[in-house]
Amino acid sequence: MPQDNPSSIYQGKTSLISGAAGGIGLALAKEFGSLGMNIVIADIDEAALADAKKQLEALNVNVLACKLDVTDYAQWEHCVEQTITKFGKLHMVVNNAGVGGIPGKIEQTDHAIWRWVIDVNLMGVLYGTQAATPELKRHGEGGWIINVASMAGMMGVPYSSAYAATKAAVVSMTESWAVELKRHNIQVSALCPAFVQTRIHESTRNKQDKYKSEKPAAPFSAQEKERFKKSVGQAAALVESGITTELLAKRVVEALNSDQMYIFSHPNYRGVTGYRAAMIDKAFDDAQQSDLVKHLIDDEIASL
Ligand SMILES: NC(=O)c1ccc[n+]([C@@H]2O[C@H](COP(=O)([O-])OP(=O)(O)OC[C@H]3O[C@@H](n4cnc5c(N)ncnc54)[C@H](O)[C@@H]3O)[C@@H](O)[C@H]2O)c1
Repeated sequence: MPQDNPSSIYQGKTSLISGAAGGIGLALAKEFGSLGMNIVIADIDEAALADAKKQLEALNVNVLACKLDVTDYAQWEHCVEQTITKFGKLHMVVNNAGVGGIPGKIEQTDHAIWRWVIDVNLMGVLYGTQAATPELKRHGEGGWIINVASMAGMMGVPYSSAYAATKAAVVSMTESWAVELKRHNIQVSALCPAFVQTRIHESTRNKQDKYKSEKPAAPFSAQEKERFKKSVGQAAALVESGITTELLAKRVVEALNSDQMYIFSHPNYRGVTGYRAAMIDKAFDDAQQSDLVKHLIDDEIASL
């Protein structure tokens, strides 16, 4: 979107935010609401959703609450329909709902947990974008798609591979859609925070029954159980040491106003992407020196 007057471009427009009953989603709802946007909060947790709606109403935000399980495309269509009925147009979708999964060794991770993480964190983002995009295009005013990824999408995370895999997919989907939708003046961004103070480490509170274990995970030894308990405690401590959701929400608006596709909130994590880029660069050096494939460079130069 053109950013001539950042403070007014949001006024009177409408944002639909998934996973907005708490955490980062609710903070974004408050921030965009304070900029004059109509807000649709959507979440699987009905009690938390009702409470979030009250909080937004107390801030004089025009708000609609929609019950949504992001893994169900029909529910996404229903929330988009409700949005249009109430506010007429949709300008922004924030694919924020996400779950942390359950950390563990690869051979001990339950397939049902992987499916849960993939369905919420990856398919939920696809469904939200598919359901919203026709409406984002329809009015010709442009808009925004904000996909909440993570620093975990920038490099693999040992013992949390399902989470990291879905977040890397969200970064990749964002890069693809940003190009596809540019000509419709729809800005697509991936928000990649490190730790933020939320309840992400308690995600199983909202795990749907359809992800009940089919095959018991490989048994844990007493020592492994102890290690697991310790790692869960460490994850909680890291999340609690994170930045506030309010600060993150302000950072999102700042980055949108300067048209950023990747939105980083933790500049101190730059080394993570730097290390990955250096490893990839080194691997290309290796390929360039390989007797098997180095001729491909000469062939390419010759064809110019
Ligand atoms: N907190 C962090 O440190 C951190 C860091 C990087 C990225 N993130 C990402 O931020 C996003 C928001 O998470 P958060 O940290 O605010 O956690 P949170 O647990 O506080 O909030 C997540 C929200 O998503 C909702 N939700 C869960 N499953 C859902 C489903 N199937 N359908 C609809 N709603 C569902 C929950 O009810 C909750 O309101 C997630 O995508 C998460 O991966 C969080």
